[in-house]
Amino acid sequence: MALNMKGRNLATLHDLALEEMQEIFKASADLKRKHKAGEATPVLKGKTLAMIFQKPSTRTRVSFEVGIYQLGGTGLYLGPNDLQLNRGETIEDTARVLSRFVDGIMARVFSHNDILTLCKHASVPVINGLSDLTHPCQVLADLLTITERRGELKGLKMAYIGDGNNMAHSLMLGCAKVGMHISVAAPHGYQPKAEIVEWAREDASATGARVEVTTDPVAAAKNADIIYTDVWASMGQESEHSERVNLFQPYQINAGLTAHAKKDYLFMHCLPAHRGEEVSAEVIDGPHSIVFDQAENRLHAQKGLMALLMQNET
Ligand code: CP
Ligand code: NVA
Repeated sequence: MALNMKGRNLATLHDLALEEMQEIFKASADLKRKHKAGEATPVLKGKTLAMIFQKPSTRTRVSFEVGIYQLGGTGLYLGPNDLQLNRGETIEDTARVLSRFVDGIMARVFSHNDILTLCKHASVPVINGLSDLTHPCQVLADLLTITERRGELKGLKMAYIGDGNNMAHSLMLGCAKVGMHISVAAPHGYQPKAEIVEWAREDASATGARVEVTTDPVAAAKNADIIYTDVWASMGQESEHSERVNLFQPYQINAGLTAHAKKDYLFMHCLPAHRGEEVSAEVIDGPHSIVFDQAENRLHAQKGLMALLMQNET
């Protein structure tokens, strides 16, 4: 019997049980198959998703809006200047008011606390579309993509090399939960938060995954099935860009570094990418790269997620 996830929030992947993550993958794969076959799936007919964006977005915005539409509902884009938040209305009141109008809220925010406040005060499901701490929807899409390529997730090794940021955090939580080993290589001062490492290790103890953090990109890349990276300066860190570009040079994913991975390694990046910074053009545009499959799967994974969280009463 399908798990009932109606009304649940998604703030971080640590909040989901392994079975719930598997249920999302199952629903996503099913909706993807039906979409490719031209079959309509109006499981959220008449529902509305409010999409709050405090930061720019290509993939998250388009995949959520197209996704809810393909499920029979409507997406409402609410950019930085569209709400009274800018004029001092609280997140609490925004959550309460939106809950009277819509059936789900997706939010991309600066502070992760804003996601937690939305979760606390909204009476409809809240989905984190990226915060300074985590980006769970991206990792749901990433794990779906790896499953399509490799069949089984458990026992694979991911190397995340670069900034210990929101992507590093979510990948650690996602990999630990499904039993994938993850080795994060980041310079001193830019490593993942200790609290997230602890959460990941908690989940890893149940699945047998190894969670390693190092400063050595070669050690991380060694024998990896997947090499993953992200921008060196995230949204909101633009003023640190040049300082970071100098500091992160040894962490660039290029032919020299990928030579330490398995022969058939996969290269992944959440995008947007900066060729010549965190990854060479040769790697991201080369035969191991699956970055556009990942981007496409944002659509399918989020449709599975929305269908489960926002479904009708049965
Ligand atoms: N990967 C990702 O979230 O991309 P956007 O910033 O374009 O949404
Ligand atoms: N770490 C990046 C991810 C973008 C999808 C950022 O937060 O800007």
